[in-house]
Order: sequence, then C-alpha cells, then structure tokens
Amino acid sequence: MKNLNIEFVQNGEGQVKSDITIKFVIFEKEKMLRGELSPKEEAFLEFQDFKVDDVLVMQDAPIIFSGLSEMSGNAIAYAMAKAVRALKKLPYKTATFNVEWEAYNVGLGAVLGFYSFSYKTDEKQKGLEKLIITSSKPAGHCLNDGIMVANSVNLAREVVNTMPEVANAAYVAKIAKEVANENGLEIFVGDKDFLAKENFNAFLAVNRASKNDPFLVHLTYKGKSSKPKARVAVVGKGLTYDSGGLSLKPSASLVSMKSDKSGACAALGIIKAASHLGLDVEVHAILGMAENAIGPNAYRPDDVLFTREGKSVEVQNTDAEGRLVLADCLSYAQDLKPDYIIDLATLTGACVVALGDYTTGIMGYNMTLQHKMLTLALNSGELAAILPFNRHLKKLLDSKVADICNIGSSRMGGAMQAGLFLGAFIREEYKDKWIHLDIAGPAFVNEVWDVNPAGASGAGVRMCVEFLKDLEGGQWGCK
Ligand code: BES
Ligand code: ZN
Ligand code: ZN
Repeated sequence: MKNLNIEFVQNGEGQVKSDITIKFVIFEKEKMLRGELSPKEEAFLEFQDFKVDDVLVMQDAPIIFSGLSEMSGNAIAYAMAKAVRALKKLPYKTATFNVEWEAYNVGLGAVLGFYSFSYKTDEKQKGLEKLIITSSKPAGHCLNDGIMVANSVNLAREVVNTMPEVANAAYVAKIAKEVANENGLEIFVGDKDFLAKENFNAFLAVNRASKNDPFLVHLTYKGKSSKPKARVAVVGKGLTYDSGGLSLKPSASLVSMKSDKSGACAALGIIKAASHLGLDVEVHAILGMAENAIGPNAYRPDDVLFTREGKSVEVQNTDAEGRLVLADCLSYAQDLKPDYIIDLATLTGACVVALGDYTTGIMGYNMTLQHKMLTLALNSGELAAILPFNRHLKKLLDSKVADICNIGSSRMGGAMQAGLFLGAFIREEYKDKWIHLDIAGPAFVNEVWDVNPAGASGAGVRMCVEFLKDLEGGQWGCK
C-alpha cells in the first residue's frame, strides 16, 4: 500500500509551488455555478461540457477540476477522492488544494481516493506523491482527523483484499498484534484450545474442515480518560474464506468470498481510529476468525451444535456459517458488560438483494438506537437503511430438534432472518443495546464507486467511528 504524503501549510494559498492545482467546480441542482471561476476557466469547462461527476485537466495552468455536487462534507470528500484518483494516473507529482472549510472531509476523501490494491507485476510508480493543503484557517487538526479515519478504513480494505491463501486467521491475528503494538492497545488472541475450553462450539464447527486454525482476537482500547463515557463492544465476522462448506457455493458465488472477513477487518479499523483520535470511549474489538472449508472433517447439515450461550442449533445449511461464529462471539462480548454491542458482518446475500450493493442493513430491537446509527452513518458518508424485524420472520427459524435452526424455512426476508438468529443469542438485558450491521453489499464491490476503489471498501468503519464520537459527546466529522 503506497501512502500519499499530505502536508498542511497555513496561509500558504498561492505561495506554495506544486505541479498542479486542484479546484472544485460547484454545482447546484446539476447546474454549474460560475462564482469562483475565471472567464477563461469558465469558457474551458463550458466548451468541454463539464458535468458534476467529471474530473478534467486544464493543461496550460495546470489545474485539475473536480465537480462538487453540493456544499456538503460528503460531497467534498467525494470530489477530493475523484481528483486524487485521477492524479494517480497523471504525470504530476505534487498538487495543492486550498481549503476554507470541511478540512476533515478533504483529508478523508484524499486518502480514501488514493488507495488501490493490486497484485499486478507491471504497476508503475507514476503519478501523485504529495498533496499540499493550504488554508487561511488553523485547519490542520481537522485535516489530520480525516486522514486518520481514512487510514483506518484503508487498513480494513488492505486486509480484506489480501488473498485467502495469505490472509488466514493467524495472519489477521498477526496484523491485529501490530495494530495493538503501534497504538498501545491491549490484545488477547484465543486459539483452538481456548475456544474449546470456553465452549465456542458453533465457532469451532465452522472451522473444522480448514487446514488453518481459528482464532478469536480481542483488542481493547481503554479510552482517553480513566472514566470513559461508554464501553462499546464491536464484534466482526471474520471468515477468511467462505466456500459454503458441504452446502458448497456455486462457482460464481465463490469469487470474492475472501471478503467474508470484512466485518472483522472493519472492527480492527474502528478500534485503530478510536485510539488515533483519542476518543474517550472504551472500545473492545472482537474478531471471530475462521474459514468455512470443505473436507472429510466438515460439519454437516443435520448436525446440532451446542453454543457458548447454551442454546442448541440445528444446522440445515453450512453456508449460513457467519451467524454461528457470531453467536459465540456475541456471547463472549456480552460477558464484557458493554453499554453497546455492534456487530458487523457480510452476513447475507439477501441483504444485497434487498438494498443493493452500496447500502448497509441496520437491524436490532431498539428503534431509537437504529435511527441514531442511520443518521450517523449517512453523516459519515456511508449508505445505510433500517431493515425491520418481526415475529413472523422469527418463527421461520423454529427447529423440530433444537432450540433454533441456522436457516429459515422460507428464503424471503433472509437478511432479517439472519439478524433475528443473532438476536436469539442476545440476552434480555442487552437486547436494547445491540445493533447488527449487515455489510454484505458495500464491503466488496467490483467497480470503483464513490470514494471507494474496486474491491474492498472498508464499509462500517466510518459509520461506527461517528457512533463512537457521538457517545463521546463530540460532533460528527470535525469543523
Ligand atoms: N458470506 C455469505 C453472505 C454473502 C453473500 C456475503 C454474498 C457477501 C456476498 C454468507 O455466509 C452466506 O453464505 N449466506 C447465505 C445464507 C443462506 C444459506 C441462508 C446466503 O446469503 O445465501
Ligand atoms: Zn456462507
Ligand atoms: Zn459467510
């Protein structure tokens, strides 16, 4: 992962030398506003029929123009990401941008837009290396916050994009240890023996046919003060590969299943951001790392699993494995006595069918909490929507031989069914404190979209960081 070098210069507008200048072209209801443009620039953009989503280089200046759809933080992050993404492919090594507000989103967008991942052997190191941000205001602190959150999103992206042969559970645990060491976090890595001793039997069943050992990774950030505002457990589904197991996925559905560890990687990004920002919230990141493989030792449909929480589960489909790993991890998370529990998981294809590729499904029992998460998600620049639970869908999970079945008797409403399965492992006193985020859609998308590259997006990091900031009593973003 190549990093963009970003430098902040206060009162440096027009004085700093660079190879190219970045300029936003402001639109209002898709009409170009001319206020900030010189007659020459205006004529150039008009001649090129410049549209809001475009980026365009005026070579004699040189200036790179990026369309800005409205005066909002999210639009600024996108306009910045677009410009930086284009500059990666152009022969300018340094660029300047003058910011007078929303420095947070300028830093965020630049670093998110700069990220890309590839195993190509002919990748050339050309293009943008350094971005100089100037401002008449003391915007350096907000700029840095944006950069730090984006770096945490990029960490999640990088681990998700790493191929499954390399990124097994032990590898993710190793990365987590590095993150812990760099940020002064506590870390506990529970191996197979720990999982067996602690009755993570559903978790263990899922990993049984894999040549790789499973691990539970538990990172702790204690918060800035000795009395943090809240304690939050963030639980992530970490399937380093989901083949479906004996209920094997069809070939086309196997492709991109390295992304089934996105929830765990997001949890890692979230705790890194919380400590970098110095939030006064205690955060626990619990990563359930396993591989759903196939082989003679595989768990089977018809097996009954006795979970850590004490409930028995009838397995009818070994491809509904994420909920089994999470059931045991959520049990562990509740023992920490948190004020909030958030789980992130690429849990169901049904969620993608319901909401499309770009939107996270928010579920839970506490409507107020879900609305809060929705608002904060949208503020953070991520897309999300609430998917409602109901008792009729819950009934579909009834089993004849066990307390609950791992799939429903109907295909309809599969995202909520999976959410309700998880809900069955949330104790009464935690029901109102729990939120489930199904990131199956946005976590991994094959084409470039918004501030995201092709592949892993780091979905869930930005929205959960805003959630933590809100608990801390701070405002979203940074002004
Ligand atoms: N990891 C998948 C969900 C998924 C699908 C994530 C597509 C990203 C893109 C999950 O483990 C799974 O296989 N779910 C099944 C559940 C079914 C068997 C009830 C699904 O969605 O088909
Ligand atoms: Zn699966
Ligand atoms: Zn899965």
